[in-house]
Amino acid sequence: MIETKTLSVTPPDLKEAAEILHNGGLVAFPTETVYGLGADACSNRAVARIFQAKGRPSFNPLIAHVADIRMARAFAHFDDIALRLAAAFWPGPLTLVLPLRENSGMSPLASAGLNTIGLRVPEHRAAQMLLEEFGGPIAAPSANRSGQISPTTAAHVLAGLTGRIEAVLDDGPCPVGLESTIIGFEGGATLLRAGGLPMEVIESCLGKPLRFISKTDPVTAPGQLASHYAPNARVRLNATTKNEGEMLLGFGSVEGADLNLSPSHDMVEAAANLFGYLHQLDAMGAKTIAVSTIPDTGLGRAINDRLRRAAAPRS
Ligand code: TXA
Ligand code: MG
Repeated sequence: MIETKTLSVTPPDLKEAAEILHNGGLVAFPTETVYGLGADACSNRAVARIFQAKGRPSFNPLIAHVADIRMARAFAHFDDIALRLAAAFWPGPLTLVLPLRENSGMSPLASAGLNTIGLRVPEHRAAQMLLEEFGGPIAAPSANRSGQISPTTAAHVLAGLTGRIEAVLDDGPCPVGLESTIIGFEGGATLLRAGGLPMEVIESCLGKPLRFISKTDPVTAPGQLASHYAPNARVRLNATTKNEGEMLLGFGSVEGADLNLSPSHDMVEAAANLFGYLHQLDAMGAKTIAVSTIPDTGLGRAINDRLRRAAAPRS
């Protein structure tokens, strides 16, 4: 068991967090999307510890968080379209999967041996300050045990990872509350994972529709297992009422909800509440969580993706 410290966003604590990373340790930190479980992306040992701490069954590729486009370009090749998206949406909830530069120093475990790397410049002040203090790329998946709900507060992180990581940098709840949108570029700009940046916004920047991944596509996001983001409770989708023994996670004007993602149909609010409310309903002892229908546009697409995974049969 490791002693897990809670650090805050003060200069001495940020310095300590960066030192832990330099020594191969694990520091969970907030981003605008969810809390990430960070390690030095150039150290195999440090990155391996991420998989161990999460209990990940396989070495899925991780997102490397970088301070800015300049640092990103040291690790990957950008074409014009990738540059345009980076310029428009970084810092922000967008991950770009790009061809990895040879001899870039990135740990092959971070990219799971692929010849591509997922890169993201987070906008959250704590993430930015940590990146600046550390001075290199930080590999970070969501800071939860494998298969569980992504954490949007430091308390969520501690509930899953106390004793397994050196520290969590606490800077309050994550404003977006959904993981980043992931775009790949093989065969044209492709949506690999719906997320905190609505695909419509990306499409209007590109001036054309994104490709979707199909079953025959060689490019996928390998972390996209069917059962993922699962609370302890079972999940039933498209509920209009709650059945005996269920708790209702509502949306809009639905009546009798135990918690409501957004009574006013505000998708930003619903996204920000999603994981926290699933955590809360678990903590309240829900056996089954019935969830209202959520519109499948904008951020709703990512919300529904996470809910379908939460409802998928568990392996
Ligand atoms: O918002 C987020 O993206 C958060 C914060 C911490 O940045 N991170 C996150 O990481 O959600 P994670 O590991 O839970 O999800 C990363 C996803 C996985 O589905 C993985 O398969 C995909 O990104 N991915 C990463 N690198 C890839 C690559 N080279 N090719 C294809 N997919 C990749
Ligand atoms: Mg995750």
